[in-house]
Formats: sequence, structure tokens, C-alpha cells
Amino acid sequence: MNVMALVVTTGVFVGLSVWFLIAERYLANYGKCTIKLNEGDKLFELNGGGTLLSALYENKIFIPSAFGGKGSCRYCKVTVVEGGGPLLPTETPYLTRAERMSGVRLACQVKVKQDMEIKIPEELLYVQEFQARVSGVKELTRDIKEVTFELIEPNEISHRPGQYVQVRAPGPDGIVTRAYSISSPVYEKNIVQLVVRLVPGGIGSTYIHNLKEGDPVSFTGPYGEFRLNEDPEVENVCVGGGAGMAPIRCIIYSIFHRWLERSCWLFFGCRTTKDIFYMENYEELSKKHTNFK
Ligand SMILES: Cc1cc2nc3c(=O)[nH]c(=O)nc-3n(C[C@H](O)[C@H](O)[C@H](O)COP(=O)(O)OP(=O)(O)OC[C@H]3O[C@@H](n4cnc5c(N)ncnc54)[C@H](O)[C@@H]3O)c2cc1C
Ligand code: FES
Repeated sequence: MNVMALVVTTGVFVGLSVWFLIAERYLANYGKCTIKLNEGDKLFELNGGGTLLSALYENKIFIPSAFGGKGSCRYCKVTVVEGGGPLLPTETPYLTRAERMSGVRLACQVKVKQDMEIKIPEELLYVQEFQARVSGVKELTRDIKEVTFELIEPNEISHRPGQYVQVRAPGPDGIVTRAYSISSPVYEKNIVQLVVRLVPGGIGSTYIHNLKEGDPVSFTGPYGEFRLNEDPEVENVCVGGGAGMAPIRCIIYSIFHRWLERSCWLFFGCRTTKDIFYMENYEELSKKHTNFK
């Protein structure tokens, strides 16, 4: 009897949950909602019901996200000043106590159900969506490839050394985005070059490793807080290995384009000599710039 009651109660709860999900998705009408961004810098109106992440995306505000916005990468944090509703159980594991107290939320989890006011870092307002085509693919090691994207629309990128882009890749459950550091120097404005290590079974890295010259690609960027010290007297020490050499390549070439005499050390970590790449380029560079060791 008790077992029967338990089964019935569970069934009722499951049924109600499914009904609420369906009702939320197909029947709920939140009407027009307004999102105020960064104290009125931007204001947009949209039909409520979708996630804050997709609402921002539709309005060309590209905040970082990965894993198709499934709420585990923690990239999509925004500060909700008003209108976000209560914190969801799908958000709490990914937010610190301080973040929760200051209104930080995961944009991929919060639904737009009423007028909202939010804050995002100023520089995310300058992130753009790029359409490009693969213009070069080079094998660097047994599992690392250099892939070059020629920019089509827009046809120029303005980035800082150490920043990254988010490439869109087709996954089994739809489009996913993955972050890859820009390895091309900042003065090469018409291309974005990546250095990608193949993660066995990985969606993004497999997609990029299978790209061929001429294939269309799409990504957003640039992202990232990294800032190179602007004081030319300050010595740079770059330590990296494998795909971690991508941002370092951008940093080194960008440094010597701007400061011919700046001092810079490179330490390339690897398991075997077969894992070393770009060495001839760096040797060439050190002949021109004696302060590069
Ligand atoms: C800011 C930033 C910059 C990055 N820059 C680069 C870059 O320049 N070059 C580059 O190659 N990668 C870079 N990455 C990593 C990249 O974003 C992806 O995480 C990586 O390519 C794996 O994605 P995937 O879709 O292939 O694998 P997924 O489909 O995400 O994962 C498949 C499986 O592999 C596991 N896995 C995921 N990542 C790794 C890993 N690194 N090692 C071992 N197992 C893993 C997962 O747990 C999962 O089980 C960067 C990441 C960040 C956050
Ligand atoms: S997109 Fe990853 S947590 Fe929101």
C-alpha cells in the first residue's frame, strides 16, 4: 500500500513537472520585455520567455559561453540588477557566495520574464561576430594543427595579445562554442590564426582538425582580460607548451613589432623534441632582435 502511494505521488509530481515545463515553453506569454544594459548604455525590447544569453546574442551582445549554454562552464556570468527572479538550483553550484550576494547570475539559466536591468564588462560591448573562411591548415605536431581563418565579414579584427575567440562547432545536440587563443600577431588584422590540440572525442577540437581550406567558419571575439605590460623597460618571460603556445606566439610577435629592443625570454615546455614547433621562426626572430632569448 505504502509502495503504491509512493508510486502514485511520484507519478503526480513527475506529471506536474512535465506539465509546467511544457506550459512554460509553449503556453507562457511574457509579452514584450525591456533589457537595460550598463545603466542605459543600451536598451532593447524583445519577446520574453527565452534565456538572457540568447536575448543578448540576438541583440549582438556576445558574452562568453560554452557547452551550448548548458550551465556548467561558468563563462556567461552577468550582474543582474533587477528582474532576474530568484537564484536557480542550476546556478548555485557555479557561483561563489560573494557573486551570489552581488547579483551575479548565469545568463544561460536566467529566463527573461519581465523588464530587466543588467551589467556586463564594458569591453564585451565590442565583441563582434565574424564570418570567415579557412585559408590555411598546417600540422605542427602529431596532435596539434595551426589553422588560419581569413576574415570575410567583418574583414578586420582588433585584438590585444593574449586574447581569444569562441569558435562555433556543430555538436550532437546543436551548436557548441569553444575558446581558442589567437596566435596571429595583433598587426595581422585580416586573419585569425589558431593553434589547436586534438582532444580525442572532443567536439570543438575534432571539428577544427577536420577543417579544410575554403571551409566557412564562424566565431565571436575577441575576449579576455589579459594585458601586456606597456612599459618597454619591463622584461617579458613567456612559459608555455603545446597548444598553450598559441597566445605566446601572438604576444612575442606583437612585442617585437612594437618594441624592437624589448627584452623577452621564451621557455618552451615539452615531453619530447617531437612536440616542439615554431622553433625556426623563433630562431629567425632572435637574430633580428638580440634581446629575444
Ligand atoms: C580561454 C581559453 C583559451 C583556450 N585556447 C586554446 C588554444 O589556443 N588551443 C587549444 O587547443 N585549446 C584551447 N582551449 C581549450 C578549448 O577551448 C577546448 O576546451 C578544447 O579544445 C577541448 O574542446 P573539445 O570540444 O574538443 O572537447 P569537449 O567536447 O569539450 O570534451 C571532450 C572530452 O575531453 C575532455 N577534455 C576537454 N578538454 C580537455 C583537455 N584540454 N585535455 C584533456 N581532456 C579534455 C572533456 O572532459 C570531455 O570528456 C582554450 C580554453 C580556454 C578557456
Ligand atoms: S554558458 Fe556555460 S554556464 Fe552559462
